[in-house]
Amino acid sequence: MVRKPQRLRYKASMYPSTHKARNGTESARPYEPEKNPAIRRLTAGAIKRRKGKTIFPIATAYDAPFGQFVEKAGIDVILVGDSVGNVVLGFDETTPVTVENIIYHTQAVTRGTTRAHIIADMPFGSYQVSDEDALRSAIAFVKEAGACSVKLEGGRDQAQRIRAITGAGIPVVGHIGVTPQTAGLGPGFKMRTHRDRLIDDAQSVEAAGAYAIVLEVVDHEISREITELLSIPTIGIGSGPHCDAQVLVLHDILGMYPHSPSFAKRYAEIGRVATDALASFAQEVREKIFPEDTAT
Ligand code: KIV
Repeated sequence: MVRKPQRLRYKASMYPSTHKARNGTESARPYEPEKNPAIRRLTAGAIKRRKGKTIFPIATAYDAPFGQFVEKAGIDVILVGDSVGNVVLGFDETTPVTVENIIYHTQAVTRGTTRAHIIADMPFGSYQVSDEDALRSAIAFVKEAGACSVKLEGGRDQAQRIRAITGAGIPVVGHIGVTPQTAGLGPGFKMRTHRDRLIDDAQSVEAAGAYAIVLEVVDHEISREITELLSIPTIGIGSGPHCDAQVLVLHDILGMYPHSPSFAKRYAEIGRVATDALASFAQEVREKIFPEDTAT
């Protein structure tokens, strides 16, 4: 008896690696709807191709519900920043943040989102010692935490590390200007104005293979110049309006951190709303208003 060949529901050729998802964005993983119809993340390549086309927003997030809020707000790039040390963990700097902290928070954001590109921030000590160390940390952020790419601080001095990580196929975002992990070594959090050094750092990061670069508190005209010179997107924070993207820390956007930098814009005062709601609850308990006795 001749068996009819089974009809394939999906042909591999229908899904090339840079498959356009139904919503027009590009998938971070191969589009395999039969396996997981829910997850289609924006790729680093798609972000890179935004250069010169659209200015886009990026926000940080550190847990599942806020990851979801960010994504629902139409922000499709989320940074799990080592700012988690300041705004969530109660440190007054980022240096104590560990690889385990970033894995834990990245896992949560990944669970809360399905479309956004998740960038895991490499914390202090996770990439400085050797290429091998850097690669091991980056692999953990991708394999264990579900990050789509990683970010690390430094310019020419970190080009070799960027090369090592991108060489293994993990997309990297650079970060120059104010670099909070080592701010104590230089002029702290002051605006960076050393043009030649900044341009050299930015070009080194791009040449090493980064797909985007954060410019933190860089003189606005120098940011404009770097944005014009590079072929990868610049992501500004406190660096003026000329960058290809703008990033802010979630707790600054929402007014949940008391020490927001002057360049940050607070779009809400959620900290105040939360305190008022909690005070109302406390008062109602003390005055025996809550819970109501509805038993009959
Ligand atoms: O850790 C962070 O949130 C960052 C941004 C400020 C760029 O690095």
